Amino acid sequence: MLEELKKLCEEARSTIDAAVGRDALEQLQTKYLGRKGKLRDAMAKLPGLSDDMKRQAGRMANEVKKEIEGLLKEKLKASGAKKTTTKAHFDFTLPGRQRTLGRIHPIIRTQIELCDIFTRLGFDIVRGPEIELGYYNFDALNVPKDHPSRDAFDTLYLDGDRLLRSHTSPVQIRAMEKRKPPLRIIAPGRVYRRDTADASHYPTFHQIEGLVVGEDVTFADLKAVLTLAMKELLGESVRTRFRPSFFPFTEPSAEVDVSCRFCDAKGCNSCGQKGWIELLGSGMVHPNVFKAVGYDSEKYTGFAFGMGVDRIAMGRYGIHDVRLFFENDLRFLNQF
Ligand code: PHE
Repeated sequence: MLEELKKLCEEARSTIDAAVGRDALEQLQTKYLGRKGKLRDAMAKLPGLSDDMKRQAGRMANEVKKEIEGLLKEKLKASGAKKTTTKAHFDFTLPGRQRTLGRIHPIIRTQIELCDIFTRLGFDIVRGPEIELGYYNFDALNVPKDHPSRDAFDTLYLDGDRLLRSHTSPVQIRAMEKRKPPLRIIAPGRVYRRDTADASHYPTFHQIEGLVVGEDVTFADLKAVLTLAMKELLGESVRTRFRPSFFPFTEPSAEVDVSCRFCDAKGCNSCGQKGWIELLGSGMVHPNVFKAVGYDSEKYTGFAFGMGVDRIAMGRYGIHDVRLFFENDLRFLNQF
């Protein structure tokens, strides 16, 4: 009898040791200590034993019981399984947790809409790196070595010849190096300048570059495309104005203004009494730019433009301080 109890105890020890998970341990508890368990079975033989044997076996059975209980308890604790984490105790009646939906940032939304307008006009969207080489940002764009925009007070230089692009125009060069004319591309993206942040400046902002190259592309095409694009973006009643300007990579060059939508170019507080809002730089591609990419400037002509997306977004949403776009203040961003 004592031998039997000893065996039972050993068996219980090894099975409990090998058991994994709360369910298995609970089954073992029933198997050994339950009402029809193995220990009870063994105890059923007690009445047929001598008094002395009864006492010994009884004491031993008690010890075995305690030991098995202890082992089970310890193992349960170690397995860390709490009743509440089992599937059966998941409360399906609890209300779901609400997830807040993100939104598209007003600048990116404006960028997407502009890209849509130009893709409808047959432009491909291309992208270039924000970390750019001096060659693409300046040299290939016919920017002379002593041009003030190259100054470290304007452009953010990294190590060696690398810098943070100060405009999206280098993507013109990268696109022309990869493709042959005719081509019609726009290049949206972030640009960087060493500006101190104020209501109308920020060290990073967004531009969309445009480039069209082909045979017989004229200034009339430039005017037509930009006038149409501005009407699509700002409404049928908007007017465009082309003012002579200068960029090293275009000749002739023009600054493009749109009429203030609040006063129709009469002048009001919203446009600072100017009547017109400056949105784009543009012009006919300079022959030196074609030379840099190996295009025949006798055969091909083209126009390019670059527009400030942040400023367009400010006009559309009536925002008077660019810094709001970049502060990541959800009270501001949630309004869009
Ligand atoms: N890159 C010019 C700027 O950032 C804009 C521009 C682009 C002008 C293309 C002419 C042609 O100011």
